Amino acid sequence: MKNKFYITTAIAYTNGPPHIGHALEFLQADVIARYHRIMGDDTYFLTGTDEHGSTVVKAAEKNNKDVKIFVDEMAEKFKELTKAYNISNDAFIRTSDQIRHWPAAQKIWQALAGAGDLYKKNYEGLYCVGHEAFMKKSDLVDGICPLHKTEPEKIKEENWFFKLTKYKKEVKKKIESGEMKIVPETRKQEILNLIDDAEDVSFSRPSKDLKWGIPVPNDPEQIIYVWSDALVNYISALGYGGNEEKMDYWPADVHLVGKDILRFHAMIWPAMLLSAGLPLPKAIYVHGFITVDGEKMSKTIGNVVDPFRIIEKYGVDIVRYFLLREISSTEDGDFSEKKLEERYNGDLANGLGNLVQRILTLIDDKMDGELIYKEELISKEVKAKIEEKILAHKNHIENFTLHEALGNVWELISFADKYMDDRKPWAAIKHDEKEFLEIMTNLVAIIHNVAWLLQPFMPETAEKIEKIFGDDLSSKEIQENYKFIIKKGGVLFPRLNA
Ligand code: MSP
Repeated sequence: MKNKFYITTAIAYTNGPPHIGHALEFLQADVIARYHRIMGDDTYFLTGTDEHGSTVVKAAEKNNKDVKIFVDEMAEKFKELTKAYNISNDAFIRTSDQIRHWPAAQKIWQALAGAGDLYKKNYEGLYCVGHEAFMKKSDLVDGICPLHKTEPEKIKEENWFFKLTKYKKEVKKKIESGEMKIVPETRKQEILNLIDDAEDVSFSRPSKDLKWGIPVPNDPEQIIYVWSDALVNYISALGYGGNEEKMDYWPADVHLVGKDILRFHAMIWPAMLLSAGLPLPKAIYVHGFITVDGEKMSKTIGNVVDPFRIIEKYGVDIVRYFLLREISSTEDGDFSEKKLEERYNGDLANGLGNLVQRILTLIDDKMDGELIYKEELISKEVKAKIEEKILAHKNHIENFTLHEALGNVWELISFADKYMDDRKPWAAIKHDEKEFLEIMTNLVAIIHNVAWLLQPFMPETAEKIEKIFGDDLSSKEIQENYKFIIKKGGVLFPRLNA
């Protein structure tokens, strides 16, 4: 029986086209999903779009488009983003999908109601459209939402409320005990500091004010609140409320989300699941925000990075490498083309590209393009280094420090460079053929492992290296007597034109 592994990203609002922050989240999840597939897990990777709520309606109005047409166009762009970034998601869920998603949102609603956890009350509050949430006065700075820089709307209406307070102790316990892991630790503490003060949450909006959404079962006057609708995507995509065909993937192993939406995932969602009698996700991984040239990305500043343009300019694996290496998985990080180009020239062209070139040239020139692998030629030092790097790789991916996983691969690349400079195979061949063969075998073993480790991060590059050396990446181990046959192609990372 294969181990099941289920990973999700947040589902993005279809209130505008994707930006580079969305691409980062897709990429982080993609690396983890690809890694688990390589490790042999039965992996399911979900992403999608969050298409209801006032922010989406307002964006459609601003664009003079019918909401349905607008969300269809935006959802298409997010799907295109998954293709452009070589994201290996198994499914794409849309909350406007009346066949797959709506029945699930309504079913969980009824489960919550059945548990006595929904009640109606008149409510007056400050609603931030950007957050799609009511805010406390204390959350505001001079009456303005500090994140969206807008004044929340005063709303007075009758809503359904969810008894979050009934579950907060139990959710807190699960977080504290690590039964529901929150990574990194600082985000776990952040939630533990908030959870005691959590109040019941508004779970619906009157349909007279907002028609675009899922009707509350048995109450046509009300629409399900966008968050209590959206969170359900993680199980609607598995068939909850329908044929349940993929529910054996539940509970999710990882919900990957940005820091701004942690409380919805670490408080409201688990409380909903407890109320509905479903198990909680095993872990929530929280990433930071991308800034651009040191500034928050915003339409007003005009510095929103178009993720498609960047890919067209540099190529998919280069952007994948840059975002995953430069930006710490759990912290904020900065995007700039200057830094991207520096990393390209340094780490890729002069680093990995140059190493591959040096080794392949030697095999081509001095070995008639072929090397037959013999395990006995692998030195203790190289073997130990490779094992150390494989273990560190696993730990970094499992602890959600993906940037360090890449740093770790580049340590192996630097090790190979130094090994080559110290052992000088070009000199060895002149006096000791056996020594030369030993050096080359060790270098090829390192290249094989570098490519193997790179697969989840830079799948196309790993495949190119595999082809260049006639390698076989289907297994981490190299078979005894495996024949590497060099196939010279173009340069892996040509120098960028200035
Ligand atoms: N629709 C909600 C999520 C519902 S999940 C059940 C939402 N959408 S969003 O489009 O605003 O954000 C989608 C994801 O992108 C979130 O995880 C969010 O944190 C992330 N990012 C939004 N801006 C970002 C950056 N500037 N940088 C990195 N990630 C960012 O929230």
